[in-house]
Amino acid sequence: MEVKTSLLDNMIGVGDMVLLEPLSEDSFLENLRKRFDHNEIYTYIGSVVISMNPYRSLPIYSPEKVEEYRNRNFYELSPHIYALADEAYRSLRDHDKDQCILITGESGAGKTEASKLVMSYVAAVCGKGQEVNKVKEQLLQSNPVLEAFGNAKTVRNDNSSRFGKYMDIEFDFKGDPLGGVISNYLLEKSRVVKQPRGERNFHIFYQLLSGASDDTLEKLKLDRDFSKYNYLSLDSAVVNGLDDATSFRTVKNAMQIVGFMENEVQSVLELVAAVLKLGNIEFKPESRCNGTDESRVKDKNDLKEMCELLGIEQAVLERAFSYRTVEAKLEKVSTTLNVAQAYYARDALAKNLYSRLFSWLVTRINESIKAQTKTRHKVMGVLDIYGFEIFEDNSFEQFIINYCNEKLQQIFIELTLREEQEEYVREGIEWTNIEYFNNAVICDLIENNQNGIMAMLDEECLRPGTVTDETFLDKLNTVCAEHQHFESRLSKNSKFLNDHSLPHSCFRIQHYAGKVLYGVEGFVDKNNDLLYRDLSQAMYKANHSLIKQLFPEGNPAKVNLKRPPTAGFQFKASVGILMRNLQTKNPNYIRCIKPNDKKAPHIFTESLVCHQVHYLGLMENVRVRRAGYAFRQAYEPCLERYKMLCKRTWPHWRGPARVGVEVLMADLQVPAEEFSYGRSKIFIRNPRTLFFLEERRRQCLQDLATLIQKIYRGWKSRTHFLLLKKSQIVVAAWYRRYAQQKKYQRIKSATTVVQSYTRGWQARKLLRELKHQKRCEEAVTTIAAYWHGTQARRELRRLKEEARRKHAVAVIWACWQGLKVRREYRKFFRANAGKKIYNFTIQRIMQKYFLGLKRTLPSMSPIDKNWPARPYRFLDTAHTELRGIFHLWRCKKYRSQFTQEKKAVYEEKLEASEIFKDKKSLYPSSVSQPFKGDYLEISKNPKYQKLNSCVEETVLLADVVNKINRANGKGATRILLLTKKSVVLADQKSGQVKASVALPDLTSVSVSTQNDGFFALKLKEGSASAVKGDFLLSSEHLIETITKLHHIGSTASDDGEQLNIDISDEFLVQFKQDKVCVKFIQGAPKNGSSVSCKRKNNRLLEVSVPATA
Ligand SMILES: Nc1ncnc2c1ncn2[C@@H]1O[C@H](COP(=O)(O)OP(=O)(O)OP(=O)(O)O)[C@@H](O)[C@H]1O
Ligand SMILES: [Mg+2]
Repeated sequence: MEVKTSLLDNMIGVGDMVLLEPLSEDSFLENLRKRFDHNEIYTYIGSVVISMNPYRSLPIYSPEKVEEYRNRNFYELSPHIYALADEAYRSLRDHDKDQCILITGESGAGKTEASKLVMSYVAAVCGKGQEVNKVKEQLLQSNPVLEAFGNAKTVRNDNSSRFGKYMDIEFDFKGDPLGGVISNYLLEKSRVVKQPRGERNFHIFYQLLSGASDDTLEKLKLDRDFSKYNYLSLDSAVVNGLDDATSFRTVKNAMQIVGFMENEVQSVLELVAAVLKLGNIEFKPESRCNGTDESRVKDKNDLKEMCELLGIEQAVLERAFSYRTVEAKLEKVSTTLNVAQAYYARDALAKNLYSRLFSWLVTRINESIKAQTKTRHKVMGVLDIYGFEIFEDNSFEQFIINYCNEKLQQIFIELTLREEQEEYVREGIEWTNIEYFNNAVICDLIENNQNGIMAMLDEECLRPGTVTDETFLDKLNTVCAEHQHFESRLSKNSKFLNDHSLPHSCFRIQHYAGKVLYGVEGFVDKNNDLLYRDLSQAMYKANHSLIKQLFPEGNPAKVNLKRPPTAGFQFKASVGILMRNLQTKNPNYIRCIKPNDKKAPHIFTESLVCHQVHYLGLMENVRVRRAGYAFRQAYEPCLERYKMLCKRTWPHWRGPARVGVEVLMADLQVPAEEFSYGRSKIFIRNPRTLFFLEERRRQCLQDLATLIQKIYRGWKSRTHFLLLKKSQIVVAAWYRRYAQQKKYQRIKSATTVVQSYTRGWQARKLLRELKHQKRCEEAVTTIAAYWHGTQARRELRRLKEEARRKHAVAVIWACWQGLKVRREYRKFFRANAGKKIYNFTIQRIMQKYFLGLKRTLPSMSPIDKNWPARPYRFLDTAHTELRGIFHLWRCKKYRSQFTQEKKAVYEEKLEASEIFKDKKSLYPSSVSQPFKGDYLEISKNPKYQKLNSCVEETVLLADVVNKINRANGKGATRILLLTKKSVVLADQKSGQVKASVALPDLTSVSVSTQNDGFFALKLKEGSASAVKGDFLLSSEHLIETITKLHHIGSTASDDGEQLNIDISDEFLVQFKQDKVCVKFIQGAPKNGSSVSCKRKNNRLLEVSVPATA
């Protein structure tokens, strides 16, 4: 087997005492000294760490060192407390084993420092994070607070722990801290009131007075001067290397980090101040009338200030210092206290106040640092208990402290020496027993329930009657005198009787670490730990929340007459619990050794160290370790842990675990002397072998990790690659599609461009061709046209030429013929040729004239006055004749188209024209008016039925006329009917005939030349009708009426005499007998265009006719 050189081999001295050769006490000490001289303060005994107090700071706790030891095998590097802390932490984290770190050693050996180093290492290597860091910080900061209140300078140690502390740090499965629980063990409270020479009170008193601000001190009613306080010893008030003022700030800061509220800190300081004040209260005797002395407070100022601080009624406390009330069943007896008792009561109160405050601090810290989750925790316990100590005067406290150390030593022996040896035997390993001192007998001496010292003390305390420390010693002398580890002057063991070093009222116990002489003075009191009820009740009444909490038994409602358990009993019980607790955990030992008594560096006092090595049983420890095996492990976990080192056991071993381990060891070629097979475990002798195995395992794990990494990376890369490939295909497909689309678009647009160019080009070409063709066609047409034109013109010219020629020929021919004929017939024509030519010409002209006239005849309208001009003068007469003939002919033609009625109308119109044309101005306007005759439609209108029937003849004219009154010339409307025989005037409304004039009675009718409708009917004188005279009438249809009258008159007269129509602007009418002249004058138009008629006088009737425009 290849043995890797361990670091253990290349060290100053030997790093592991197991390897020490030869093994003797001298070599052991020499090795320690050598290492100590070279600042190697840690040395191993197997897995136990020996720590020498260097009394100076060494550069071996740096963060780099932490990193160096982190996750390294225990034996891999030089011995260090970090290696043990790392081993414990990893074992807790990786193997799920609860751990405890037991730090033992006498006072000043460095236990507290060691515990802090372990905690700081664990804090550095465990998980990180905001929450975790807070927990770590709180756990670490609980130390300064507890040290300030629980540590004090002793002759052995400037920072001596005056209480026991066991701290469970809780971790989650990842190894991250969750919180912690602190258990405290019996504070040395006697120190509060009295300190041995060269020692001082708890640090906090000095820190408060040195470090607090003036303001705070004023509030607390304190003075900065230590000498003002009775409880503070003066000789060692200032400790070298300790800066109380700075420490005070550190403590306050730590309290804040841990989670103390501002008011809580204040309350705590108030209590500390109150203790100081309490120490200053002094008493004086005052004689009473019954002769006894009664104590009185000397100077009440301190009492008053203390009461103010704690909110206590001064009188109540004052009374509690003067009286003591004892309640027994139903009785209540009050006795006065003398001065000594008053001092005793004062000190008891101070001690209780302080120790309860300390316990409250621990509880309060626990509240802050407790784990928040309820899940299962892994626990690492760190035990830092006060070390074994031997003072000049050892009292109850030392007894308790040393008892505790005995117990720890016992547990060490149990686990490292006895149990180990027993295990070898149990496992069937060949083993030669090694002798060691078992301190069980001392433990039994102290704690035995029947006759142990503590039991005796309790018995004494509970016993009725007078109980003193002497009676207790007597009891011990009777019960324990024969015990080999107990000595007293009166013990029955005669060999001690002559021991003059043993004073009276003392007993000596031969502890594992040496003999200690205990003075019994105060044992009973301290064990009783009594506080007068009056005091606790006074405290309970305080108007201070914290004080009230600290003295719950002072509540009068909860008076408990039962004695509280004694201090010894309580301590024993709690130590018992602690031991049981430690036994359930995997122990890790740090054995602290104090190199000198001077608290000085570099000094190695051999006798002192030798003594410690001796009583700590370190030699035995090495021997057992050397003879035995450094490491053991059950086969199953061993195989599980190392099976990867052998191909046959990896990954699965089917057979029994032991066979698997055997195969493994054989395969690894571990020399046979290096290990033994037990019944259920394998025992490995040398740590190097274990180291070898661990190293191989580590390498193998690395290889396995590499393999897993390799496979995982391969898988991951492959998966990644496949994903990439898949993605690449998708991307490529999309890209190609995109590219092709783009390309297609490009080609398409290019094609379109090319196409458009080509089409354009083709179109232009076609257009050109078409244009060319069209132009050609046009040219052809033009040419053809021109050509045809030319041809035609040429032909025309030719034809014209030809015609001209033909004509010329004909003319010439005619001329020639004429010439020829004339020549030939000249002789015949000469006689009558002229006449004949003349006639012929005349005929020809006449013929032409008539044909021309025929073409230019005017229209057939009789009123058309046009007539063509005459062509020849000689036809003048004929031409005029022909015009007249034509006119007559066309008039005849015109007339021949007329019906009989129309003819009659025209005849009437003609007659009218003959009568009036150019004679009466009214005439022209009547030409266009047709002669309607019956304007009243007399035959049809039923209104004129009667009138019609009166008239026998056919009515030729029926019209409404105005009959002029003969007397005044005013008009009245009448119906005028004209028949072939008479003229009838009738009333227009009634149709009654007013007058009827037979036509033969009518001689003439007179009208004016003017544009008026007046006419006078002149009657034959003497006729029947002429009675009233002539009628002067006015008609709208004058022309028609007169024309009709004229026509009828001429046809009706038998003698053919014409009715005379007289047209004149002045005529005479016969009105009855008078001849009245009717005169028409042209007047200015008056009242429009109406004609006015006025009888001027008997002879004149004037008609004013408006002048025609
Ligand atoms: N590892 C160390 N490095 C430097 N100084 C140390 C170391 N260990 C202890 N000391 C010094 O020794 C002094 C006493 O140590 P510590 O308080 O730890 O002793 P202890 O064993 O707890 O004593 P006690 O039982 O009285 O509490 C410390 O104040 C410190 O000055
Ligand atoms: Mg300590």
